[in-house]
Amino acid sequence: MPHMKNRDFLTLQDYSADEIWEILKLTKKIKSDATGYGGRLSGKSVLLLFQKPSTRTRVSFEVAIGELGGNSISLGWAESQLGRGETIADTAHVLSRYVQCVVARVYHHTNLEDMAHNADIPVVNALSNMFHPCQIVGDLFTIWEHFDSLADLNLAYIGDGNNVCNSLLIGCGKMGLNVTIASPRKYQPQEEILKIAKENAKESGASIKLIVEPIKAVEDADVVYTDVFVSMGFEEEHSERLKLFLPKYQVTANLFNHASTSSVFMHCLPAHRGEEVTDEVMDGPHSIAWEQAENRLHSAKSILASII
Ligand code: CP
Ligand code: NVA
Repeated sequence: MPHMKNRDFLTLQDYSADEIWEILKLTKKIKSDATGYGGRLSGKSVLLLFQKPSTRTRVSFEVAIGELGGNSISLGWAESQLGRGETIADTAHVLSRYVQCVVARVYHHTNLEDMAHNADIPVVNALSNMFHPCQIVGDLFTIWEHFDSLADLNLAYIGDGNNVCNSLLIGCGKMGLNVTIASPRKYQPQEEILKIAKENAKESGASIKLIVEPIKAVEDADVVYTDVFVSMGFEEEHSERLKLFLPKYQVTANLFNHASTSSVFMHCLPAHRGEEVTDEVMDGPHSIAWEQAENRLHSAKSILASII
């Protein structure tokens, strides 16, 4: 895939459906047999730069880099000179002389754009307030693995119109999955993202719907997806948000029962059990959340191997 080399990975919108398929197919290949990929990043170093907490993204990328034969360095934003005011541009110039890729988790998406603009090496979005593309690559792979297809499936996303929701809208729209979002009006995804998702969907033949009734959203769903009501960086809105989201938008067994018996439950994790989802659903027979989490590792390898 030479056309993907040295490309930033900030949002799925920058990748065509064909390119996303290539990444998914490589994920499948690496997951089933990683022989031949052990030296793929040999002699390369990747910096993991985190401004927010992380378990899955940080650990899966570290393991992925190691298993591809590369060297990973983890650095907290605040413990670097960025925390003392060194500019992102200056940091990007310097990092470009040490490492072959930066995987960064930030609050403001514009910080990633600034980093990418000033770096000579690919920058991967490990989550920003706007997008979480690496998560959605793992999710699309998980759905494909489970259903053996992507196009024409129905995904219902229940809850906050956040970064994960935005990337799902963009990724699913591109890959032909129909998406119905059920959110309280105040926390619906931004108009600008919906517009992009609808344009993508028009091209792939998918549909994007925004409603307020969660029961209606799950009725035809093959996949019922939720994420936290209070994302990192929005903690001060906790009680105000819970008042609007609960109890209506909690994925309970009762809500899930409105979906078909072959439907699956997905959650990017971490879950706030008792808020957006109950234990019964998280730990129930329809949950594929652990497979989904595992696939972050295989898809991280595929993303890195595609762009470095
Ligand atoms: N899903 C996900 O990105 O998890 P972490 O915040 O633990 O990385
Ligand atoms: N929407 C969540 C996702 C965590 C992986 C957050 O941004 O906190």
